[in-house]
Amino acid sequence: MNIRQVHPVFVGEVSDIDITQPLTREQAAAIEAGMDRYAVLAFRDQALTDEQQLEFSRNFGELEVTLAGQMAKPEDRRLGDRLELGDISNLTARNAIRERDDRSRMYALANRLWHSDASFRAIGAGYTLLHGRVIPGKGGNTEFADMRAAYDALDDGTKAEIEDLVCEHSIVFSREQIGFADYAPGNEDRLRPVRHRLVITHPVTGRKSLYLSSHIGGIVGWPVPEARAFIRDLTEHATQRQFVYSHAWRVGDLVMWDNRTVMHRARRFDDLKEVRDLRRTSIKGTGLEVAQAKAA
Ligand SMILES: [Fe+2]
Repeated sequence: MNIRQVHPVFVGEVSDIDITQPLTREQAAAIEAGMDRYAVLAFRDQALTDEQQLEFSRNFGELEVTLAGQMAKPEDRRLGDRLELGDISNLTARNAIRERDDRSRMYALANRLWHSDASFRAIGAGYTLLHGRVIPGKGGNTEFADMRAAYDALDDGTKAEIEDLVCEHSIVFSREQIGFADYAPGNEDRLRPVRHRLVITHPVTGRKSLYLSSHIGGIVGWPVPEARAFIRDLTEHATQRQFVYSHAWRVGDLVMWDNRTVMHRARRFDDLKEVRDLRRTSIKGTGLEVAQAKAA
């Protein structure tokens, strides 16, 4: 297995490995070490089936179920009853392109905002793995921003000021930014804000990073408008182009990233005319429990 760095500060492209086959323990450890260093790894030309993607993902921990999957009615699930497999596509259960005013489409449009997956949960996602099945002819990149490099580039005064800040995250706050508030009843518990430290320390590398996300709606002890304006400033700083890698998808790409060290966002494409079909798996984030306890 070889890893070639493809961006000045992060992101590795992995070659000489077939991830459709079961990994040895050494291979899994080498991928984890690569994740600790590069934060994002891209594998090209991997013709994974759904089962193989689930199998590959399980090498790295316990799989989590996406919130969209939990909230969808069984008959609306295109990929059947395997809730660990997230449907990142613009298709309905009947494989038709979603209409412009389709509720799921509008909900998913918030993925165009910079975020960290599942930061609205008490324990956010660790790795997310996305596999490209159908890729539009134009647009639809996924962009990543290195939150370690962004943290390092802050001045000392700002670092001291934010060291112990605790943010409130909820899916409601990210959707609010695009004017979406159409939740089915019975999901109140899933929408309640959770708290996370703004500065987190990676459990293995010890590097600090900014745990930013569009799901943030407040900072504990701050007036809401001041908190939101400040989070906007920090997000603007953290997503400057020198910290950003834009992944142009090809069919068969598997891209995995660590939500504890990067933010990401989807880019626009003509989703009313073209199909984009990606499959997602996520691993529960570990190593943040200490930070959790402190934040509580
Ligand atoms: Fe995401």
